[in-house]
Amino acid sequence: MLLSEKIRAALAPCRLGQWPTPLEPAPALARALGVAALYLKREDRASARGGGNKVRGLEFLLAGVPPGTVFVTAGGTGSTHCLGTAVHAAALGHRTVLAQFRQPDTAESRAVAAACARRAALIVHARGPATLPLAVLAAWRRAGTLGVRRWIPGGGAHPRAVVGQFLAGLELAAQVAEPPDTIVLPLGTGGTAAGLGLAVAALGWGTRVVGVRVAPRLVANGWRTMRLARAARHLLADQGVRLPAPRSPEIVNGLGPGYGHPTPEGEAACRLAAEHGLTLDPTYGAKALALLMERGTWNVQRVVFWHTFAVP
Ligand SMILES: Cc1ncc(COP(=O)(O)O)c(C=O)c1O
Repeated sequence: MLLSEKIRAALAPCRLGQWPTPLEPAPALARALGVAALYLKREDRASARGGGNKVRGLEFLLAGVPPGTVFVTAGGTGSTHCLGTAVHAAALGHRTVLAQFRQPDTAESRAVAAACARRAALIVHARGPATLPLAVLAAWRRAGTLGVRRWIPGGGAHPRAVVGQFLAGLELAAQVAEPPDTIVLPLGTGGTAAGLGLAVAALGWGTRVVGVRVAPRLVANGWRTMRLARAARHLLADQGVRLPAPRSPEIVNGLGPGYGHPTPEGEAACRLAAEHGLTLDPTYGAKALALLMERGTWNVQRVVFWHTFAVP
């Protein structure tokens, strides 16, 4: 049995996405960026319902619960994770209560916030990230009046979700003739990079996983990412799947003035991506692609860019 099938059989995730997501060559964008080869891993196309890169984790996080479960999770008002949870939980007959802090107003964050308002059973707003724990407590209390509750950490940063991202790495291996030099992705709560770091190690690839940090260090950091990767590895070992130690991602700061605040470099990346038919969001994808525009700083040649944002 294929490793991915064995893992699915053992952990029984639900099916939310259409796999594999496409891997598309982008020769014109590669030329514009000055890299020899660029491939786009279209995680934005994971599900027609939306959710982008978060769908893979949600397959594991939303599984195995009683009907009518109330999922409680947290994030910014523009959080794809919050929206993905609300949308996919609803499709499975569950409900979602969100605790959210307001993030800078952009077209993308507004669209996600509007979609969250339509899909969530209830949203408790915090004034800012610092008071989010209080909003989480209030959300948890209020969710209790709706049914059986399940907590999902912000960003879906949980070892089970990391297993979903690990499967994405195995999926990539079946789509490339040879390993890329580098995988570039935005680093938020770290689950996606953790899964890819585990996959690269399991595949025996020399590929660098470069996470562009787009959230404060307290949330997005190497320690947390590796902790998630190791916990996912243990979880798989408990199912009889033994993997080598995960590869640590290289983390590059792309945050700028703060989480969700557009940067000039990110805006330039957005414009360039748009010329090539891609929609990036200013919070994640734009800041990650901006790294590739800093020619000379990064000696990368055959790159896979992890395209994570699904326009709601
Ligand atoms: C669009 C998008 N890209 C990337 C990320 C980062 O993924 P992770 O939190 O797994 O680091 C997120 C997380 O919310 C996201 O919504």
